[in-house]
Amino acid sequence: MKKKILVAGGTGYIGSHTTVELQQAGYDVLIIDDLSNSNIEVLDGIERITGIRPEFVQLDLKDKEGTRKALQEHPGVEGVILFAASKAVGESVQQPLKYYRNNITTLINILELMPEFNMKGIVFSSSCTVYGQPDPENLPVTENAPIKPATSPYGNTKQINEEIIRDTIHAGAPFKSIILRYFNPIGAHPTAEIGELPNGVPQNLIPYLVQTAIGIRKELSVFGDDYNTPDGSCIRDYINVVDLAKAHVVAMNRMLENKSDDKMEIFNLGTGRGVSVLELVNTFEKATGVKVPHKIVGRREGDIEQVWANPEKANNVLGWKAEESLEDTLKSAWNWQLKLRERGIQ
Ligand code: WQD
Repeated sequence: MKKKILVAGGTGYIGSHTTVELQQAGYDVLIIDDLSNSNIEVLDGIERITGIRPEFVQLDLKDKEGTRKALQEHPGVEGVILFAASKAVGESVQQPLKYYRNNITTLINILELMPEFNMKGIVFSSSCTVYGQPDPENLPVTENAPIKPATSPYGNTKQINEEIIRDTIHAGAPFKSIILRYFNPIGAHPTAEIGELPNGVPQNLIPYLVQTAIGIRKELSVFGDDYNTPDGSCIRDYINVVDLAKAHVVAMNRMLENKSDDKMEIFNLGTGRGVSVLELVNTFEKATGVKVPHKIVGRREGDIEQVWANPEKANNVLGWKAEESLEDTLKSAWNWQLKLRERGIQ
């Protein structure tokens, strides 16, 4: 019999790609999502790719009773992947309580419900923001790099979430946990059936870049060219979203099949390659043949100068590696934008 996984936040950007990979690996998926930052049509995209429509419950995971009821009505869940969270850094500064309430209540509810339903493991979405700006000797960052004070309430919720999981496991919880620290996920499914759907004016680089390339935005602002990096622009580790999604399947298998004795493990998910903003714009132009009007403006407050992953632990221990090239990943983001235009969405 197929094993069933709860994907909390499964209609979102990373959640939808992970649902596809889980189904293709032979899992059944139950999605719970309140659709606060996603859209029911994502289920159609998932079904077009895999031929399988995941079970779906529209529900706010802060509602513990509602979540319990959903799990009773959709029995047999063996593990959970928790994506559902608010994730806009800027908004979190303006509305910190929304972030603390959403991101912390949801995790606590899930951790409390897991034993009731005999779930064996949780994969948690964390972020490289927990490292802040690593000291130069700690680049590329390993999982052992110091955790720096968070620079936003959003980042702080990720740190607190990790601590909540650590304390719960330490107290003898009857399940395992794997925390995945994502670097910068980008791109879309190669079929262009699912991808990222930003609300309003995009804050993140790739959505803004592709919207500029297609003419929705006039020009891309490159935030700073006076950083201490080879071309002066910031450096990040951009990871293909399908590669990222696959790591969740490996992590879930690892817990359900008891491949490790550790009850809590942490992995960086990145490519190991740092790419500057200007390099990224150039690579996009070369890969797609489409120009991206851009200008250099001042630095964005709160930006980290440079951070990229040492992904060796995930490579060696999980046997997972980022495979897609940056060129193909950027092409997938562009194809998704073209598809949105075709459908009259953006
Ligand atoms: C990338 C680079 C910008 C927009 C944030 C969160 C992180 C994660 C992903 C998840 C930076 C530059 C951007 C633009 C630009 N969170 N840039 N012009 O800041 O690395 O990470 O999103 O949900 O937790 O902190 O990502 O895509 O915003 O920026 O020059 O219009 O692109 O300065 O160097 P970031 P980003």
